Amino acid sequence: MAGRAAYGVSEAAPAALAAEEPSALFLRACRRLPVERTPVWLLRQAGRYLPEYRALRERHAMLELVRTPELAAQVTLMPIERFALDAAIVFSDILPPLQGMGLDLSFAPGDGPRIANPVARARDVDLLAAPPAEETMAETLAAIGLVRAELEPRGIPVIGFAGAPLTLASYAIEGRSSRDFTRTRAFMLSEPAAWRRLLQKLVTVQADYLLAQAAAGAQALQLFDSWAGRAVSREDYARFVAPHNRELFARVAAAGVPVINFSLGVGAWLEEAAACGGDVVGLDWQLPLDEAWARVGEERAVQGNLDPAALLAPWRELRARIDDVLDRAGGRPGHVFNVGHGLVPGTPVESVQRLVEHVRERTSR
Ligand code: CP3
Repeated sequence: MAGRAAYGVSEAAPAALAAEEPSALFLRACRRLPVERTPVWLLRQAGRYLPEYRALRERHAMLELVRTPELAAQVTLMPIERFALDAAIVFSDILPPLQGMGLDLSFAPGDGPRIANPVARARDVDLLAAPPAEETMAETLAAIGLVRAELEPRGIPVIGFAGAPLTLASYAIEGRSSRDFTRTRAFMLSEPAAWRRLLQKLVTVQADYLLAQAAAGAQALQLFDSWAGRAVSREDYARFVAPHNRELFARVAAAGVPVINFSLGVGAWLEEAAACGGDVVGLDWQLPLDEAWARVGEERAVQGNLDPAALLAPWRELRARIDDVLDRAGGRPGHVFNVGHGLVPGTPVESVQRLVEHVRERTSR
């Protein structure tokens, strides 16, 4: 692969190292190994709340950042340079893999994602391509290699990620972020066979993409099922979504790196969502961490789950909320501190700074 060679991605398979006990706190916590303090990273840690990100965005479009390995690597490292975070998540988005499938994606300024040719009927599903990630996501794979080379000497692991089949299907069908996912459910109920083919195609593409990210140097992988809790009912999740998620997690297990299952808003069926797979269960901010952990089972690691809105509150309140999450985790092995959904654009940089320092100080053992 020209793209890989050009950006110096090592040929050695990082997965081969997975059998050894990792030293990075984040990777240790993912495997429920004892740690000297609780690792912390934050969903959307590289984003619009950072002035240096906004400055770069004045000169480059969102997809230009994603499609230029040096720029994507630079954005990935922005929060790492500022805060003592324990992991870096590669800068990209869940939607660019849809471009390789033939969907015309854009990010309208201040307006969120748009797909100009959404899936409207069964026939559209069969027209979607499923090319290998090395062809369609080469820039993100190259960015992972660049970030890994930079962070390896500092002992900070790199996380790769992808969108889950349902969440991506909702964008493919709605053509944009939706409030109610009516089109998505209408398609699912009217064309159940085409729905299965669509999710199956997404499983193929996303499994290949996640495995390619691990091969490119990602030391953990996160699957985002952001609309699992809003787009479908519990019964329809079990019938139309879970089988595809289970297959995806089963395939990705071959990467030999920890996999994080983050399904937003599934409190009413957390057990079922967690049972789909993954080594670590990402908990959203709506359930108390101890109760959620008991429901997914003590044999799983968990990640979460501070309300991102708490970072907009005064320090006294923010600190109390951080302490509450840490108290509920109770110092048990297998907790990765994080927010329970992405940081919002108005988040004060100072709040992130204090959060990271406080988690480090309070959990040092
Ligand atoms: O720091 C990180 O977390 C890594 C980068 C990352 C982005 N998007 C960058 C981004 C990650 C992991 C994502 C995931 C993502 N993207 C999800 C799943 C996580 C979640 O929040 O539930 C979803 C649903 C998307 C789709 C998406 N991308 C939307 C709806 C939007 C517009 C609304 C918004 O939040 O801005 C985006 C754009 C986007 N993705 C931005 C960033 C930094 C803002 C782009 C800009 O600079 O204008």
